[in-house]
Amino acid sequence: MNKIPFGPTYDEMLHPETVKAEVRQKALKALQEDELDPVNLFNITWKNNRDEVRKMVLPSALTGVDANIVVMLGCGFPSGSHKVGPAYSTLIEGMVDNEIVPGEHTILGPSTGNFGIGTAYISKLLGFRAIVIMPDNMSKERYERIRKYGGELELTPGSESDVILTLERTHAMMKDPKNKALAQFELFPNYRFHRHVTGNSAVEAVKGVGNGRIAGFTSAPGSAGTIAAGDQIKKVFPEARIAALEPYECSTLANGGRGQHRIEGIGDKMCTLIHNVGTTDFVILIKDEETIQGLKIFHDGAEALVHMGVDREIALNLQNSFGPSGICNIIGAIKLAKFLRLGPDDNVVTVATDGFDRYHSVLADLNGRYLETTEQVLQRWTRNIFLDAGEDSVFDFRQQARKEQLYRQKENDWLKFGYTKQFLDSMREQTFWEQEYAKVQTYNEKIAALR
Ligand SMILES: Cc1ncc(COP(=O)(O)O)c(C=O)c1O
Repeated sequence: MNKIPFGPTYDEMLHPETVKAEVRQKALKALQEDELDPVNLFNITWKNNRDEVRKMVLPSALTGVDANIVVMLGCGFPSGSHKVGPAYSTLIEGMVDNEIVPGEHTILGPSTGNFGIGTAYISKLLGFRAIVIMPDNMSKERYERIRKYGGELELTPGSESDVILTLERTHAMMKDPKNKALAQFELFPNYRFHRHVTGNSAVEAVKGVGNGRIAGFTSAPGSAGTIAAGDQIKKVFPEARIAALEPYECSTLANGGRGQHRIEGIGDKMCTLIHNVGTTDFVILIKDEETIQGLKIFHDGAEALVHMGVDREIALNLQNSFGPSGICNIIGAIKLAKFLRLGPDDNVVTVATDGFDRYHSVLADLNGRYLETTEQVLQRWTRNIFLDAGEDSVFDFRQQARKEQLYRQKENDWLKFGYTKQFLDSMREQTFWEQEYAKVQTYNEKIAALR
């Protein structure tokens, strides 16, 4: 076993400053110099080396709204996305419960990419063989990363919205007792990581911004792990409104719509088991092409943005910190701020799951499709996508009748995997989620005791 067989507790991921100084320093050094050093487990946190949440506050010159749009940046996590957090949390809970044993078990990671990358990475650090089960039509950078971390690939046909096939394959492979799945769509460590670590980091991220509170939180669900941060945000700021974002082309939560789309990581044609739909107030639809054009603006349009009044340093910081789903989350945050009539004191928090590094091929494809992407064109796109983002496609899910639609969707998606109606009904009560969340303390203690 490695010198550090177990990594951080949930509390230490939220507060890395409480990790032993020597280990934290070693970890920060390894993040720059050796990403495969297991000490990197202690870099699974939203905080930078100054113990501040990695974030950007977007200017009105880009968003067109008075409210502050605060984006938490996931690209600084080891492996390049915050999805490594749920992968680690699921694996470590299994290890301390003695259900997952190194040398005995192979780890399965059903995913559209980033969770698979996280699974391969964490498995490598903790000494497990990993098989990532994902659609065969995702951006090629994802497969390369998984192979680089020693992960094996099991591909299912299709793209982003065909993730249900990866789930079916995972459930079939789980019949072999040697295989243990980090089943992100249905296991609660994903909920716990995001509620505790992401949710409380969001609360810290708005300190000193506007009124220091959170009026809205937007997240486009893939597994619906990240949106669990909303449950914690609502605990601290009960006025906060939570919006789930979906591709316009695959509006499963909004109205049962199902279709192909290109926002990698989200919109998987289902209501995941771990999605607490009781706290979801709105569902907002975002057009996939706008997120790809947004990627072009952020990556290549610094000059265009500067000429529209965006501070140069901010324009340059946008270049590498976003992928299409992060841009989707920003557009959703703007729409929510407009819908709720938020003002300059108000904050809407959202998340950029990963950075540009895994989307070169997506941008190359866009460059092939558009004859012209001059500064003028990019400015027109910026106005259309961000500044003039409308309140259209905002669905209010605060009424029980609308919630029933989501409960029905969940039944439709999960009864077939062996979950009972009684269990699904128990999720209608907030106490179900509070009980799942309370296990954070149990695992804090178990991890600390066993490492
Ligand atoms: C790029 C990207 N964005 C968004 C998400 C959605 O996050 P979550 O699964 O926490 O809902 C994912 C999930 O894999 C992702 O890879």
